[in-house]
Amino acid sequence: MSLEIFKQMESEVRSYCRKYPTVFQYAKNAKLIDENGKEYIDFLAVAGSMNYGHNNPFIKNEIMKYLEKDTIINSLDMYTIAKRDFFETFKNKILAPRKLNYKVMCCGPTGTNAVEAALKLCRKNKKRNNIIAFSGAFHGMTLGSLALTTDRTSRGGSGVPLSNVTFAPYDGTLDSLEYLRWILEDDHSGIEKPAAIFLETVQAEGGINVASKEWLQEIRKICDENDILMVCDDIQVGNGRTGYFFSFERAHIVPDMVVLSKSISGFGMPMALLLMKENLDIFKPAEHNGTFRGNQLAFVGGEAAIRFFVEKKIDDVVKYNEKIIGDFLNQEIEKIDDRIAIRGIGMIWGIDFGKIDAGIALECVHKAFDKQLILEVAGRKDAVLKIMPPLTIEEDVLRQGLTILKNVIKDVMGGKNE
Ligand SMILES: Cc1ncc(COP(=O)(O)O)c(C=O)c1O
Repeated sequence: MSLEIFKQMESEVRSYCRKYPTVFQYAKNAKLIDENGKEYIDFLAVAGSMNYGHNNPFIKNEIMKYLEKDTIINSLDMYTIAKRDFFETFKNKILAPRKLNYKVMCCGPTGTNAVEAALKLCRKNKKRNNIIAFSGAFHGMTLGSLALTTDRTSRGGSGVPLSNVTFAPYDGTLDSLEYLRWILEDDHSGIEKPAAIFLETVQAEGGINVASKEWLQEIRKICDENDILMVCDDIQVGNGRTGYFFSFERAHIVPDMVVLSKSISGFGMPMALLLMKENLDIFKPAEHNGTFRGNQLAFVGGEAAIRFFVEKKIDDVVKYNEKIIGDFLNQEIEKIDDRIAIRGIGMIWGIDFGKIDAGIALECVHKAFDKQLILEVAGRKDAVLKIMPPLTIEEDVLRQGLTILKNVIKDVMGGKNE
């Protein structure tokens, strides 16, 4: 197997491939298979874009049927049957049962595009520049989204000042709510009133920081009391990841806008949506535009994925798996060293080595790859091992992956393998 052409041709910016140095060829549910036939258990799920498993047969079948005929593949924002079917299913099976009346803006094609659209629309609605985001946030790599993103390496790549954003501590850091209220209420705080507060209910790239229901409810209240929009970035932890289709459902709140991408298309096709309350839908035609807003295979896959989610009760599946993962981490991993911190919800979990040595996490990623398990790091100093398998992972594969994980951690920490 040669990696030479990648090293010769592909930009130095490449990153994941450095952690998983093999050439992948096939994938099935929670397994990736390289060109030598070696199987890897996938605890990354393409950063949350394969929630329903690789090559999910239910979704794939719909895409194959669609492709057989000479149907529309790409369409700007023209009306198509695939888009109509997606809208109808999304409305009837996801929005209506949750009493959500969002309008949908098709942004193109990746998560950061929807974040950019949300930023513009919030500023346009409120005629204010400033936005509040949180320490530990990740919202994307284009300049607007990057201005909301906190990690220094990503920000360092911008080349221009990242502005018009004020950061506040996230839930669990300092007194987040007190600070927010002070910013807004003290007429000498020196901080401009924001158009919106952008948040993730679980900071994924930030190290699997799970906001409490109470904190989310207070943020909603602060937004209402101060005429500020609340925007939930559900790009990574939406689509069932936390045990609910939308991650904010557990707090019984309704954000003014929601951004969705990654698993919304069901099959790994690029797709990004901005959901907004109807009164906020004030863009003029073409005021925010883009060529790739009409990925029909994403609409077809996304429509099938919603039916799959509902019919297979994926929210219940996630809650079942949440217990398996949570119990395993709390009972088997935490006891390896009491300085290890475990955090998580649904099927996104983190193992934080920050109190011991941040470098342990990356070492585990490399060792896990040798043992055919795909893992990623997240958080401050990359100290957190992130566990995020497809929601559809088979129970025995999940348990097998967790056992490999335990042995890898013990190995790296100098413990004895069982
Ligand atoms: C919460 C969140 N927002 C936005 C993005 C950006 O999405 P994309 O990489 O598709 O632009 C990501 C990507 O990981 C994300 O996790």
